[in-house]
Amino acid sequence: MKKGNIIVKNAAELVTCSGFRAKAGGEMADLNIIRDGAVVVDNGVISAVGKTEELLSKYHKDNYEVMDAAGKAVLPGFIDCHTHFVFAGTRADEFQWRLRGNTYMEIMRKGGGIINTVKATRDASKQELVEKGKLRLNSMLSFGVTTVEGKSGYGLDHDTEIKQLEVMKELDNVHPVDIVRTFFGAHTVPPEFKGRPDDYIDYIIENVLPDVSEKGLAEFCDIFCEKNVFSVEQSKKLLSRAGDMGMKLKIHADEIVCLGGAELAAELGAVSADHLLRASDRGIEEMARAGVIAALLPGTAFCLKEHCARARYMIDNNLPVALATDMNPGTCFSESISLVFALAALYMDMSIEEAVTALTINAAAALGKADTIGSIDVNKNGDLIVLEYPSYNFIPYRTGVSTVKKVIKDGVLVYDKESGKGVM
Ligand code: NIG
Ligand code: FE
Repeated sequence: MKKGNIIVKNAAELVTCSGFRAKAGGEMADLNIIRDGAVVVDNGVISAVGKTEELLSKYHKDNYEVMDAAGKAVLPGFIDCHTHFVFAGTRADEFQWRLRGNTYMEIMRKGGGIINTVKATRDASKQELVEKGKLRLNSMLSFGVTTVEGKSGYGLDHDTEIKQLEVMKELDNVHPVDIVRTFFGAHTVPPEFKGRPDDYIDYIIENVLPDVSEKGLAEFCDIFCEKNVFSVEQSKKLLSRAGDMGMKLKIHADEIVCLGGAELAAELGAVSADHLLRASDRGIEEMARAGVIAALLPGTAFCLKEHCARARYMIDNNLPVALATDMNPGTCFSESISLVFALAALYMDMSIEEAVTALTINAAAALGKADTIGSIDVNKNGDLIVLEYPSYNFIPYRTGVSTVKKVIKDGVLVYDKESGKGVM
């Protein structure tokens, strides 16, 4: 993708989120804001950050595009560190069943849920998935997302899992939003292996994982560690194998039942454990000690009418918290970063500052990328968003609606709300 030279000047608030690693405890509230701030991006990389007056005196404006952000807040691009955005079909009927009192797991046991999307995704052409993915990435971009994590897991067979990952690779080449790919073949047990989860785990280990790894199709491996899906032992077996092959690890952990997924994430040194609605105190403690990030997904809890994860307890116990949408056709069909923000502030007892950290530097850390993205620091990628408002405080207050006016990716303007630029 193109790299640009740009100076963004006069920002009412330059919210730098400065840092090169995950923030824990009290650090999460520290945004390191520069009033009347400016950022210089050279060939896609941030080369200077400071007060507008100081920076403008040092740089030749002729060499740069100059963007005036007077009266606006400027932040690092948001990072959506947990999504399942490549899939075919929809499941609006299941949403209605849930409204009538059926639980997610009941629907899954009756043969609905993930398997419905698997059928549609197996049948879909690569081109169809690329087109659908593009529209979702456009929507994410309009919420200020500059990097997204995307999982496979709607194939559950060799070819469709590979197809999903290849679709993400292709999208990464043509769309400004960067995509970090996760192999999620262990999303659930496919019909071909019904009642035989151990055999399915062996099938993945022998027939899919080696190809994914050799072709460099995924940086991460994830598993749905959950009662009646995959046990802690099965999760350990698959993730250990993936780790041996050099992949980084994530776990859908303790979402519906407290199974010990958080503890397993700590034991295996996973980069993140995600969901964690029912994580135990011990699991939280062990994650904090092992340096695992808690990636929390309040949109999913909201859509499942569940209580959100215990973000306050986690932060108070020094566990770095990231936030993400979990965008998927089953439990949260939404790219709204703004909704996630509002839920974090209103229902998770997180301060707005902590939520900003959770969607920037800590989300970068949940992807193992805190050294290159997630903050406005020299030598990081020039990924910036300009809000329509003078302060980051407006993000949750403008509930569910995007406050993002412009998005800059690698120093290039890729989205402008007014002109419609960036809508592919
Ligand atoms: O993160 N919990 C499992 N996986 C997804 C839901 C996927 C689906 O229902 O399609 C999640 O919520
Ligand atoms: Fe998920």
